[in-house]
Amino acid sequence: MAPRSGFSSRIGFIAAAAGSAVGLGNIWRFPYETGENGGAAFLLIYLICTILIGFPVMVGEISLGRNTLSNPYGAYKKIGGKTWGLVGLFGVIGGIMILSFYNVVAGWAFGYFVEMSTGDLIHQEHFGAFFGEYVADIGDNFLYSLIFMILTAFIVMRGVQKGIESASKILMPFLFVILIGLIVYSLTLEGAMEGVKFYLIPDFSKITLSTVYAAMGQAFFSLSLGMGALITYGSYIHKQENIISSAGIVTAADFTVAFLAGLLIFPLVFSQGQEPTAGPGLVFIALPGIFQAMGTTAGAIIGSGFFLLLCVAALTSTISILEIPVAYLVDEKKWDRKWVVIGLAGLIFLIGIPSMLSQGAVEIFSAGFMHYEGIDKSFLDVIDDVFNTVGLPLGGFLLTLFIAIKWKTSGMSQEILSGNPNYEGSFMQRFINAMIAIICPVILGVIVLLTILEKFVGVSLFS
Ligand code: TRP
Repeated sequence: MAPRSGFSSRIGFIAAAAGSAVGLGNIWRFPYETGENGGAAFLLIYLICTILIGFPVMVGEISLGRNTLSNPYGAYKKIGGKTWGLVGLFGVIGGIMILSFYNVVAGWAFGYFVEMSTGDLIHQEHFGAFFGEYVADIGDNFLYSLIFMILTAFIVMRGVQKGIESASKILMPFLFVILIGLIVYSLTLEGAMEGVKFYLIPDFSKITLSTVYAAMGQAFFSLSLGMGALITYGSYIHKQENIISSAGIVTAADFTVAFLAGLLIFPLVFSQGQEPTAGPGLVFIALPGIFQAMGTTAGAIIGSGFFLLLCVAALTSTISILEIPVAYLVDEKKWDRKWVVIGLAGLIFLIGIPSMLSQGAVEIFSAGFMHYEGIDKSFLDVIDDVFNTVGLPLGGFLLTLFIAIKWKTSGMSQEILSGNPNYEGSFMQRFINAMIAIICPVILGVIVLLTILEKFVGVSLFS
């Protein structure tokens, strides 16, 4: 067998994995989820889910990938046989579905970059109305999401090292810098402190069970867990690398960017007298206001810079999602990487079209496509609920169950030990083992069950 190509260095892997984790999930999804779920209390639960569940699951995924040197399907199959392989296959399919709508939202970000740099957006009076019209416009959405998919495919086609790794290493650090700059500015706005309070002082009466599963779903999405993206990336790293510290850095970077995005958005939203519960439009509606307040020229420049970086963050994530099914077909079917990438990118773009049309462009796909949880749902909402809110924690549940009963924590420890000789007998080992073998399967199992009952069966046990 030809040697498997991989990341060239530890930094390369960390940049690529952090690039996968940091994306629209942090800057677009996290603030509106926090806004809809009560602010600081949500942030706290999200942090707990990230450390106690997300981090161990990430260690599990990376170890499984490195141990088996395989895509998710191959990884489960090598250790657990064909039936377990189906769990990996479920991840591959989930990746395809998640990318189908993720790419649509990335198209919005790209469109906003274009509208900002041409100076159109900065002159708008009502950013809420503008956003509503924007996402319902078929032409722009089609064009920009198509361009985004082509860019993604192009990078993935270049392979792991030249494409994924080098793009991530250059682009990620910029994002931190521009975020910090914008936060400093937004905190000086009048009324900003109200937003800081909403974001940082928890009101525990706002916590319900749905806060918990929204936070869990968000943690999985943001850390790129539950679909095997990190099994795939884990299969590209060297044996002498320290999985625990790499996963720790990636987890911390991901949380930090989400936290900073919130610290940017909420002061803005409150200083402009907007509602934090605006939903998926939140970032697209709140941010242009701050750019406008900077004056048209400065605002257009800084605003374009911001949306460009949002696109970059999204791009390092889309490439990691596309890599899941690509690795599967290249590994298992031995097909040519180039044609696999072209075929999958085209297919996923097509699957995304109903999502693209679901924001008012075509009525049957828009709000009212389905109705559950007492609200009208669009096609995009349904795909997001099934493959993200339910699918990712379900993927995490099956992964931890698989390690607990099939691979065993001893097998996983053996893998982690390589590159981390002090792991044996350490506190970290006890923590990871307890989480993976007992706590995660139980908590994730319960959460998945309750989410399905509440969302799709209409039974709510606690409310
Ligand atoms: N984590 C990314 C974000 O926050 C999205 C993402 C990338 C993802 N790869 C994934 C989500 C795999 C689920 C599974 O934007």
